[in-house]
Amino acid sequence: MSPQTDRADADKTDAAGVNWSSQTVLITGAARRLGRALAAALAARGARLLLHYHRSGGETHSLARSLESNGASVTLLQADLRHPEEQERLAAQAIAADPPPTGLVNNASLYERSPLDDWSRQVWEDHLAINLTAPVWLAVRLGRDMQARGGGNIVQIGDWSSRRPYPHYLAYTVSKGGLETATRALARELAPQVRVNLLALGPMLLPEESGPERERLVRRAVPLGRLGGTEAYVAAVLSLLDPRTYATGSVVTLDGGRSLT
Ligand SMILES: NC(=O)c1ccc[n+]([C@@H]2O[C@H](COP(=O)([O-])OP(=O)(O)OC[C@H]3O[C@@H](n4cnc5c(N)ncnc54)[C@H](OP(=O)(O)O)[C@@H]3O)[C@@H](O)[C@H]2O)c1
Repeated sequence: MSPQTDRADADKTDAAGVNWSSQTVLITGAARRLGRALAAALAARGARLLLHYHRSGGETHSLARSLESNGASVTLLQADLRHPEEQERLAAQAIAADPPPTGLVNNASLYERSPLDDWSRQVWEDHLAINLTAPVWLAVRLGRDMQARGGGNIVQIGDWSSRRPYPHYLAYTVSKGGLETATRALARELAPQVRVNLLALGPMLLPEESGPERERLVRRAVPLGRLGGTEAYVAAVLSLLDPRTYATGSVVTLDGGRSLT
């Protein structure tokens, strides 16, 4: 997709007073589910998008075509974030974009069981690479570039369960917990030009293989009695990306009260 699509609505300011057309945002794992909804919302507000995907090339290309037909500027970037050289290639391609990113949303993630009685070093390493090393690598590389250019914004996507782990997900839990610590450390190092915050999500969307019984159990465990869905996610990320937001190193919990139960 062309990175150069001109938009008729450039310089438009949204109802909350943010000029999104001056923002270029890299979203990792943007093809589907929460990342896709965020891409659509940012495009509708006039932001330029760098959309990363791994395996969902077809879905990402059709998303880009649809957003571009409405005037959005979209660049697609493919990378398997398990591998250090692909993490670096994605960072370098993003920084080389014109204009380079003012925002980064580290949304891509691996969520697999890692039970102790079937322990796999590979599963452990994949979680750490995709959920911790890659978002930290991208935050360091893009964050330094944003710092040099005078400003930017990084949103890490975490999970409430990293503070109250549930069984059989040790690798996932540790990777998201490490990301929370990295958020605080990076917020100090990249201030004052760049803000770094983390969204600790509860059940927003169930894994695709879940059935109605699983949904019923999850709803029962959440004081608000419902899943968060894409709208709550999008609203929270937009708020953290808003340049006026006075927060860095913060963990914003968006879990419907799940961590209280
Ligand atoms: N859904 C929830 O209720 C929930 C709850 C708590 C936290 N979160 C967090 O919120 C974020 C979005 O959640 P989600 O459920 O929408 O995510 P998801 O569908 O599980 O994953 C998002 C994307 O991650 C990408 N990904 C997986 N392995 C990758 C790899 N090796 N290299 C590069 N990309 C890879 C995939 O891209 P491709 O499809 O292109 O392969 C996938 O579409 C995640 O960080 C997740 O941990 C979600």
